[in-house]
Amino acid sequence: MVIAPSLLAADFARLADEARSVEQDADWLHVDVMDNHFVPNLTIGLPVVESLLKTTSLPCDCHLMIEEPQRWALGYAQAGAYNVSFHAEAAADPVGLARDLRAAGTRAGLAIDRDTPVEPYLEILPHFDVLLVMTIKAGFGGQQFLPALLEKVRTARTHARSGHLELRIEVDGGIDEASIAQAVAAGADTFVAGTAVYRADDPAEAVRRLRRVAESTPAP
Ligand code: DX5
Ligand code: ZN
Repeated sequence: MVIAPSLLAADFARLADEARSVEQDADWLHVDVMDNHFVPNLTIGLPVVESLLKTTSLPCDCHLMIEEPQRWALGYAQAGAYNVSFHAEAAADPVGLARDLRAAGTRAGLAIDRDTPVEPYLEILPHFDVLLVMTIKAGFGGQQFLPALLEKVRTARTHARSGHLELRIEVDGGIDEASIAQAVAAGADTFVAGTAVYRADDPAEAVRRLRRVAESTPAP
């Protein structure tokens, strides 16, 4: 099980400190890259992520919410990202890009937004290490978790059982102590949490609490 605090809810002027504050308890650090085109919001790009990668020992899980991911994704791989996820809705050739990412030495993630069904992508999942299922509409932190989207997690988990056991199924959006249990029960094993971690008084303790709930919930 992987808990990945999302820096989107952190203080962007203190990114290195915010990353360090969860280093002992988190598994990955989730970094949301937004380009003001694929989503209306704008965050950070490659130069900031490159600097961040030098300051944290946590594996970086880069979530690219950008158009034309084929232009930028490899830069994140070369910078040392542990996983690079791009959106199915934005990718012209998702399998080709996944191959290139893996060849560059990182893991490849396929992200699907709120309104995108998972079924058309099941057949290409063997090219990916991570399936990122949005549990909100991508673009902003602090939104309410949408439990109906867990149906996609159930479908993907059932599919992965028949031959892609190592696929990580990651949920992103509105994950807190209540929704993480629902996500575990649906078959997710990787959990992004922004608000629930970085808006808590003690981010490290918030990560530990999320893990306790997730570990005490039976997986399907
Ligand atoms: C939103 C981002 C999420 C965001 C989640 O598009 O992909 O990673 O940080 O934030 P919370 O946990 O606040 O929903
Ligand atoms: Zn994200």
